[in-house]
Amino acid sequence: MTNLDFRRHRKLRHSRTMRSFVRETILHKEDLVYPLFIVEGDQIKNEVPSMPGVFQISLDYLDQEIDELLDLGIPSVLLFGVPKEKDEVGSGAYDQEGIVQQAIRQIKEKTDELLVIADTCLCEYTSHGHCGVIHQQDVDNDKSLPLHVKTAVTQAQAGADIIAPSNMMDGFVAAIRQGLDEAGFTDTPIMSYAVKYASAFYGPFRDAADSTPQFGDRKTYQMDPANRLEALREAQSDMDEGADFLIVKPALSYMDIIRDVKNQHPVPVVAYNVSGEYSMIKAASLNGWIDEQAVVLEKLTAMKRAGADIIITYFAKDVAKWLKEDH
Ligand code: PBG
Repeated sequence: MTNLDFRRHRKLRHSRTMRSFVRETILHKEDLVYPLFIVEGDQIKNEVPSMPGVFQISLDYLDQEIDELLDLGIPSVLLFGVPKEKDEVGSGAYDQEGIVQQAIRQIKEKTDELLVIADTCLCEYTSHGHCGVIHQQDVDNDKSLPLHVKTAVTQAQAGADIIAPSNMMDGFVAAIRQGLDEAGFTDTPIMSYAVKYASAFYGPFRDAADSTPQFGDRKTYQMDPANRLEALREAQSDMDEGADFLIVKPALSYMDIIRDVKNQHPVPVVAYNVSGEYSMIKAASLNGWIDEQAVVLEKLTAMKRAGADIIITYFAKDVAKWLKEDH
């Protein structure tokens, strides 16, 4: 074995200190957003059957939830509402006394330390479960836009720090930006679900948010998982319309898209580690088949490596605890 020419990469892996010295990507608790499902009613804390460890909570449980998040140093929450009543036009979404508007006010009265992101959509509030209003069995784009604008404005009036529209109508960023500006919220940023695929990984979320479409599917507004160039067009138009953050959703099957979006746009890129991605890991770990902590940290670090600056994840509390223990 003389004259063998090769490189010794293991030099940089020999000790824990050396490995952390050369580590390229580091996950921080500051990167995390924790989704919350706020349900109308009293004394409700329902575990979502397909998402062990995730609960729908009523407002009387919100303060203790917020204390826990502050204690863990998680900087941000994403709010979803689960109303008692639904109707054709999703009026609960833009009611000043809607469940999310109440939750925002309650959090803002309690603390300034937490960024409150409001998910802006109608699907939890419509009787048919679609993300807009229905006309001839399809979601009518331009009739839905004003309702999304009203939703965003009432959320900003309640005190939301960031508006996150997830409805996938064309022009939603332009419409919401104009609506917020006209209502005086020129400094409220938009975190756009710019690239949102019609994914089977949302199944457990629809149990949590009670938002399964009652007919058809979301394929006329959410994107085809096969497409990459279409994602770049979606991201570009949202940038042109004034988005301040770009979300790619889901995360794990779309790491290439996260990287493409990061390379092309100089704004924070957000990966949404969605419900089905959570449930798969939970199920395997509850069966004792994988090491949950190691798998979750590997996955989330990989999302950052792919280009995500921020990660929305149901694992946020666990991750914050693990990172604390590690230090
Ligand atoms: C729709 C919305 C969805 C999610 C968040 N907002 C998906 C959908 O039902 O189309 C999914 C989040 C998840 O799966 O974790 N407004």
